[in-house]
This record gives sequence, C-alpha cells and structure tokens, in this order.
Amino acid sequence: MMKIAVAGVGYVGLVTAVGFAHHGHMVTAVDLDTQKIAGLTKGISPIYEPGLEALLQEQLAANRIQFTTDGASAYANADAIVIGVGTPENEDGSANLSAIYQVAREIGQSIQKDCLVIVKSTVPVGTNDKIETIVQEALKHAVHVDVVSNPEFLAQGSAIYDTLHGSRIVIGTESRAAEEKMRELYDAYGQPILAVSRRSAELVKYASNDFLALKISFVNEIANLCDILGADIEEVTEGMGYDPRIGNSFLRAGIGYGGSCFPKDTKALHWLAEDHGFVLRTIEAAIKINEKQKYVLMHKLRKELPNLAGKKIAVLGLTFKPNTDDLREAPSIPNMRVLQKEGAIIQAYDPIAMAKTAEILGDATIMKNSVEEALDGADACLIFTEWNEICATLPDTFKNYMATPLVLDGRNCFDKHAMALAGITYQSIGRPLAKVRQLQ
Ligand code: UGA
Repeated sequence: MMKIAVAGVGYVGLVTAVGFAHHGHMVTAVDLDTQKIAGLTKGISPIYEPGLEALLQEQLAANRIQFTTDGASAYANADAIVIGVGTPENEDGSANLSAIYQVAREIGQSIQKDCLVIVKSTVPVGTNDKIETIVQEALKHAVHVDVVSNPEFLAQGSAIYDTLHGSRIVIGTESRAAEEKMRELYDAYGQPILAVSRRSAELVKYASNDFLALKISFVNEIANLCDILGADIEEVTEGMGYDPRIGNSFLRAGIGYGGSCFPKDTKALHWLAEDHGFVLRTIEAAIKINEKQKYVLMHKLRKELPNLAGKKIAVLGLTFKPNTDDLREAPSIPNMRVLQKEGAIIQAYDPIAMAKTAEILGDATIMKNSVEEALDGADACLIFTEWNEICATLPDTFKNYMATPLVLDGRNCFDKHAMALAGITYQSIGRPLAKVRQLQ
C-alpha cells in the first residue's frame, strides 16, 4: 500500500484516484475547485461517467480516499504524487502547460520526503524534463524526487473499465528505482507493464491518440467516397476489419471525432513537430478532414432544404459520444450554431447534456424532453450521437411525429432498409441507398 496524492480531479485525475483507492492505496485528491471537492467528499461526482460514482462511494466508505483543496498538506508526505491536471489547447493549437507547471512548483515547495512525481496529464515530449527542473528548483527539503511519465489511455464513457482492465501501463523513466516503485504501485492491476524512456512514453500517448484519429479520418474519407461510388462503408470496414493487421475497432464512420482528446492531441503534436521544423503530413490531413467532416450533414440537409429559415429541425444527441455529458468539440454545437444563424427552429434532445447545451447556445427553449417531442412537426432530423435511447427509436416514430420524414444520421444508427421501408428519406454516412445489393 502506498500513500498517494493526486493533483486535479478532472477526468484523468479523478478516475485515477478512485482506481488507486480501489487497489488498496491510500489516496488524497487535490483540486482548487472548492465546489467539486465539497461534492466529492459527499460522494458526488462532478462528471457523468458510468460506474464512477458507485466506485467513489465505495472507496469513501472504506476510508481509502479523501478530497482536499490543501495541496501542500497532501503532497508533504506522499510516497507518490500524480499530476492529472488539464493541458487545454492554446489559440495556436499548442498545449497550455501553465496549470501543470504551477502544480509542479507547489509540489516542489511542499514535499518533505523522497517521492515519485507521476505525470499522467497528456504533455508534449520534453515536458517531463521541465517538470523535473521546476520541482527540483522549488524544493525546500533535501529529498530525492523522480519524475515519471505515465500516460493515461482511458476513454470517456468507459473510463472505469479502461482503468481497471487497461490494455497496458506505460512507464517512462530513466531511473531503475523509480521503475521498481511504479511496478509496485501497479502490481495489483494485473495489466502488461511497459517500461520505456521518458520521452518515448510521452510520445506513446500522442502517437496512440493521433493514430486513432487518423484511422477515423481515413474511414470517414472512404465513407464519403462510398457515398459517391455507391458502396457501403459498413460492408467495406467489415471486410477490412477481418485483417488482424488492420483490426476491426475504430472503423466507425461518422461526422468526425470530438471530445477533449483527439482534436487537442492531433493539433498539439502537429504544432510540436512544426516547432521543430517538421511537418506531420498525415496528422495535418486528419485535422483538415475532421474539420470538414463535422459539417457533412449540413451539406446533405441543404440539398434537401436549401432555405432553413423557419424550418423545424430536430437534433438528436448532443454529446461528442454516448455515455458522457461532455460537449467539448462535440459536432452538434457548431452545427446548431449554423442552424441558429440561418433562422431554423431547433428542437433538440439528449439523454444527459440538455442543460449544458442550453447554456452554451444561450437558448433553453430549443431543448425538448424526449425524442418524440424533438421530432414533433419537424421538417428534418439530424443525429449527432449514437446514444442507445436514440438508436432504439422505431422508424415509425420518425414517420408519425415528423412533418416531413427526412432523417440525416451522422452516426449510422439505423438500418437503412428499415428506414426506407417505413417511408423515411434516410441518409447516413457512406451508406447510400441508391445501389442496394440485389442478388440475381
Ligand atoms: C480517447 C482515446 O480513445 C483514449 O484511449 C484516450 O485515453 C483518451 O482519448 C484521452 O486521451 O484521454 P475519448 O476521447 O474519451 O478517448 O473517446 P473515443 O472513444 O476515443 O472517441 C473519440 C471520438 O472519436 C468520438 O467523437 C467518437 O464518436 C469518435 N469515433 C470513435 C468515431 O467517429 N469512430 C470510431 O470508430 C471511434
């Protein structure tokens, strides 16, 4: 058992903290946000994430986790301090590291015994070196500190599962003693542990996320080509996925990747490479493709309804993916802004993120209480997120509630034939109806 302090209770910090507590460590999680800390102390999670609140409450009841705004006390005698604060995107696409450096200084000033500083936040290659320098320079006691890179691979919506059943744990350090301590820390996790250099570990994280983003952008381009050529992207990706060198995951075509990671990490790595005089052409292409892909439904909509003013548009699904309340880089938001600008009447529904969306768009009247209410009298329906509840909508529901049954599905939620049979004008991504396979 180790005494662990975790700086930051955002996605990465909070889930990591709860995970360590679950595996028997004594955890103190720190954040400046008094409201979040007060809620967490009572077992209330500030984020919607399946299974998180239950696990949090279990750890609180077992006295293995506590929350505080007092970083100095939490860091003073910890065996390991995890940095999980955010690295948001600067205007120019680079990663903003000010919160990380601030925490590093505070850690240096506070620690009173030898310890590990574990960097879980996604940071540009070389940042761990800077963190180590900042911590060393701020030290007030003669202690030994090792800074270890330990990137996080959890995805929102499955964060607890990903933490407890991860595909690998990557440890980046040049110190044998630090590696041994990290192996001890993760002993109970039972996951493959890969020890590499600190810079490699930093790059594993970006390269993994950017590769996945690239995979999605590639599939989206092929899907757009399917729309032109009359092939079906689901048949194409199924055929591709059987090849173990390609793999069958992350081949779902749609209206592009969103969230707090892929958009930010593609831009950050591209920026970092450019800063060293090197252009990452593949990532550059992925970024451009994704930016355009966001508006694919809008192009389809304009072909059907050239003038959107006064038209009732149902919008189903608002979050960047299902099972999260996160709207960061969610394609729904810029699309709804376009609809708002053009005078369309939006009728939106999401199982979780209605209040947050109303705040962002500055209009609560567009939010409806159910799929049916959103569809009621609509001239067209746009689907941005494949929530189970939305995918379970029956074709007849669209037909019965909408004024004109025109459904533009950005996440390929429905069987195109069933929708067509129900009398719906249905368009999705890379699945044209025109050339349906007909056995002779
Ligand atoms: C992503 C990675 O999957 C995690 O491994 C990583 O740890 C995390 O970023 C992070 O850096 O913190 P996340 O952004 O939560 O996780 O969600 P994903 O499931 O990867 O989805 C990202 C976006 O890609 C979503 O908008 C999703 O709809 C889209 N996507 C995903 C597709 O369009 N097609 C696919 O086949 C898969």
